[in-house]
Amino acid sequence: PPASSMLLVTDFEYWAERVLSTTAWAYYRSAADEEATFFDNREAWRRYFFRPRILRDTSHGSTETTFVGMQTSMPVFIAPAAMAKLGHPLGEVNLTKAAGNAGIIQAISANASCGLEEMFDARQPGQPLVFQLYLNKDRSASAALVERVTQLGASAIILTVDVCWQSKRTLDVREKLKEVSDTPKPKILAPPVGGTKGKSVSEQISGYQATNLTWDDIGFVRKHTHLPIIVKGVQSIEDVQLCIEHGAQGVILSNHGGRQADYAPAPIDVLYEIRELRPDLFSKIEVMIDGGVRTGADVVKALALGAKAVGIGRPILYANGTHGEDGVSRLLQIFQEEITNTMRNIGANTVADLKPEMVGPIGPWVG
Ligand code: FNR
Repeated sequence: PPASSMLLVTDFEYWAERVLSTTAWAYYRSAADEEATFFDNREAWRRYFFRPRILRDTSHGSTETTFVGMQTSMPVFIAPAAMAKLGHPLGEVNLTKAAGNAGIIQAISANASCGLEEMFDARQPGQPLVFQLYLNKDRSASAALVERVTQLGASAIILTVDVCWQSKRTLDVREKLKEVSDTPKPKILAPPVGGTKGKSVSEQISGYQATNLTWDDIGFVRKHTHLPIIVKGVQSIEDVQLCIEHGAQGVILSNHGGRQADYAPAPIDVLYEIRELRPDLFSKIEVMIDGGVRTGADVVKALALGAKAVGIGRPILYANGTHGEDGVSRLLQIFQEEITNTMRNIGANTVADLKPEMVGPIGPWVG
């Protein structure tokens, strides 16, 4: 069915399971171990409800906002996710174009299957792009890469720190590639280390990644770029505090979509905990969040609790896999419509009107 007939973000997932290659589906959908975190990421959003306000004339609303110095038409960004070509031959360039048309930010994965120049060339004039970095075992390669993306005109660097070890991504491991010759390869970095036969997609593409990261690595990245640094994979209040102390400009509360530590907490619960216990942190660093976001209501809940923007992972890959650029555009339109609808119905004209007392865990609660 055409992209225009997709009504819910999850409709793309339904079709993706039916049309993607088994390798692509297994790699995209997979999560760690018994997938407790993967399922709870989604369930957790359902534990938070609104406390709507009425009679506020919300007929003239806007979803525009900024985060980490970037303008966006709505508080949604494309989370960095590898290997878009597994789902569609044009890969991440589709995402760049759809993001440009929608006026939102794309975060480019270090393991993207399109080349950096291809994506930067597909930008509209003035379209910001963010680059996500995995540190290389050879730090000099990372230094060169950070300098290269800075020169290309990236607007920020996302440093992903939650892949300290290659976890067992169950579906992907089960699927182990039978035939590798027709599998797209990551393009930005070195070819897979030690051959690819009999390895899961995750194993194939991650061989270069360092497993010995420390807090000093934020300073290392800082030495090679003037861009804002956003640390991705933060999962506790203590580590938000440390990110501030180490000079990061932003954090993404994330458990990698449930792909790393199984039984890591749902990011919305971490966000709520910060709101309850350390609301002062929101004025010291910009907080973003991703994981299990599937509706505009989810986005609005996160914003009300203090997040500046919300990342979308799998749904983007699914929509790209089923319908290419059109699918990603339709997906973003669904988010735009649902965010607008939710904001208006709870009494918010602008993102600034969203307040913590408008959202809480399943009530009654005292706002
Ligand atoms: C990811 N994610 C990810 N994160 C990152 O920093 N660099 C990467 O290369 C990837 N690659 C990647 C591939 C695939 C197939 C998935 C599903 C995820 C994690 C991603 O940025 C994000 O944190 C999660 O996908 C968010 O959860 P949802 O939206 O998929 O539930």
